[in-house]
Amino acid sequence: MMHTLEWSRAYAGRLQRDAAAVFAARAPELARRLETECAQGLLPFLTMPYRERLERELPPLLPRVRARRHMLVLGIGGSALGARALQRAFAPGQDGPCHDGPCLWIADNVCAATFESWLAKLPPRETTVVCISKSGGTIETLAQYFLCRDWLRRALGEGWHEHMIVVTDLHKGFLREEAARYGLDSLEVPDNLGGRYSALSAVGLLPAAFLGIDWQALLDGAAAVALPLARDPSCLAGHPAFHLACWANALESRGYSQLIFFCYVPQWATYGPWFAQLWAESLGKEGKGIMPVPATGVTDQHSVNQMFLDGQRDKGCLFVTARGLEQGRHFGQDLPEAWAWLRGKPFGALLEAEGLGTRMALCKSGVPLLHMEMGECTPRAAGSMMLLLEAATVLTGWLMGINPLDQPAVELGKRLANTRLGASGHPREAADLAAYLAV
Ligand code: PA5
Repeated sequence: MMHTLEWSRAYAGRLQRDAAAVFAARAPELARRLETECAQGLLPFLTMPYRERLERELPPLLPRVRARRHMLVLGIGGSALGARALQRAFAPGQDGPCHDGPCLWIADNVCAATFESWLAKLPPRETTVVCISKSGGTIETLAQYFLCRDWLRRALGEGWHEHMIVVTDLHKGFLREEAARYGLDSLEVPDNLGGRYSALSAVGLLPAAFLGIDWQALLDGAAAVALPLARDPSCLAGHPAFHLACWANALESRGYSQLIFFCYVPQWATYGPWFAQLWAESLGKEGKGIMPVPATGVTDQHSVNQMFLDGQRDKGCLFVTARGLEQGRHFGQDLPEAWAWLRGKPFGALLEAEGLGTRMALCKSGVPLLHMEMGECTPRAAGSMMLLLEAATVLTGWLMGINPLDQPAVELGKRLANTRLGASGHPREAADLAAYLAV
């Protein structure tokens, strides 16, 4: 089985009943909406109409990008976090010493010191720069694109074209124009596929494929969760994404304000920030939404877990585990008497035991907990988990009565920053800035 979702047995109380009542009552209404929005092409992360084109256009690029040791991704938010989660989950060696495989660098911040140090280390001839932006107009990404274009051009002359790939909207935006102007290779970010729902398109899958991750297995795993919903919305009531959404809704309606994403698959720890962005940017609206709090087992047992267990009673927990993890080497029979109980056990037994201990401690402390156990920790399972969380996010938003696909508040900050740098076209922001800076 790919995954199971289970309410903590120690907390089979009101919340669970509330959640169950929500899905019994609202499933038909949401199923109708799902049907309509799938038919209108508004939920491409579920219907995956882009898969065929991706499978046609991505493979021809791979020999060239894999012939070079480095890939430098320029992107931010939903255009970066999925790739990073996949890198850490399935190609983690790059962070270790003596790494000699492909290197993925993800420039998702505006840090001149880091950027300069990367450009100083990267050999242009051995590097493919991949610029990822759905809108094709995000200042952080474009700023780095301009600098990289210049860096490549200085080193390679007109050959720079060969070292740049753009991933952007198929028809519009500045990056699309750049691709046409310079004949750059490009892949599409499909219509209506917003950044945080795009990890399983070219946005996350080109970097994943470069690293040798089985990107088609990711898609297969995602399809196994998505397509039943897309093809037969009436199955919604029994779908785990809907159960998760109802549970989250019940949490919020009872005044819980934080949702811990406690990941006990250490190599999947970077799914924490990925999920946090997905959830927060989708659901933090109109004074509503539960704040996602990513945490990693077992590391955070020695950190924020005290607060989870005995701080304010305002937290629910989505607890993620996976079966089939590498167990590692076994402890010898020569362990000192005080540690004899470890003899003969594999190192991996600690993770399982500590996960169980923390889960039970959270339950005993009254933290409402939903346990998501993946049947394996393969790319296929990861694709399935990512899709499940994306679908649950959208359904949670619908239950809350907000639009989970936009991010209007974030847009304001972007307009203000661009105006501050001299961009025209935002007279209201210009006036606000002038007034703010005058105080
Ligand atoms: O999820 C989102 O929509 C955002 O986080 C975007 O991914 C982010 O703002 C970058 O946007 P773009 O891909 O258009 O450059």
